[in-house]
Amino acid sequence: MPKLLRTISEVSDFTSLYHLVNRRIGLIPTMGALHEGHLELGRKARKECDCVIYSIFVNPIQFGKGEDLERYPRDMKGDMEKLDSVGADAVFAPETAIMYGKDHSTFVDTGRIGRILCGRTRKNHFRGVATVVLKLFNITGCDQAYFGKKDYQQFVILKKMVRELDLPHEIIGIDTIRDPDGLAMSSRNSYLSDSQRKSAVSIYRALSKAKGNLLKYKDKSDLIRDTRSVIEKEKSAEIEYLEIRNADDLSKIKSLKTGKKFVLMTAVKIGGTRLIDNIELN
Ligand code: PAF
Repeated sequence: MPKLLRTISEVSDFTSLYHLVNRRIGLIPTMGALHEGHLELGRKARKECDCVIYSIFVNPIQFGKGEDLERYPRDMKGDMEKLDSVGADAVFAPETAIMYGKDHSTFVDTGRIGRILCGRTRKNHFRGVATVVLKLFNITGCDQAYFGKKDYQQFVILKKMVRELDLPHEIIGIDTIRDPDGLAMSSRNSYLSDSQRKSAVSIYRALSKAKGNLLKYKDKSDLIRDTRSVIEKEKSAEIEYLEIRNADDLSKIKSLKTGKKFVLMTAVKIGGTRLIDNIELN
């Protein structure tokens, strides 16, 4: 079993020898309720690093009012068993009080990029993500950290944070892991009923259709309209946004013909469950 670390000094004691002899530490930050996507990040880290640490922490400051902080799935025992199977060395699973003192008031401001797309409805979400990830970087002193590209906006924002704050850590993005029917793996999929889960498959169906038909479109608004209609065939699906953005910096694109890498990104509510997904368009 991986070693369970509950405090910052336990993490320092655990990592000190690795730091002393210059060994590579890989970190996989998670909120637990682990699925195959999280495990794939660990397998990649295992190949590239001498020490693989997962963090499991449901970070309260990235949840807004009325979001699912309290009901977010938690399964520490199951998670530890899964992490044993990928050969993780340690798991840092702190209580909230360890991460944030009562008067905690220092945050990473992610700026405009944190206010677009998901940030439009989730006001301080990326501020909370960037703050906890920076803390986890400092606590573990990791050399590299692994993130799933399902959370594409998070991935771009964290890369920007590392670049702009001159942090020594490398951010590694891993392609989205999907169920056989195409649904992107997410801890929140456990909220879906059987029929909602079937409807949720329309998200990836729509994104892959858009990618497949990309060359047929001259105008990006036609592509968006047709993609929306695939999702909207499902009665329970409510699209929060569906946008094509520049894959590097999430800036808006004028036309489909700039020769740059684009990403088609969406957030869709199925029943009460908010799901995100994306597909890279080249
Ligand atoms: O992607 C997540 O699970 C979370 O946003 C992260 C990166 C672990 C920060 O809490």
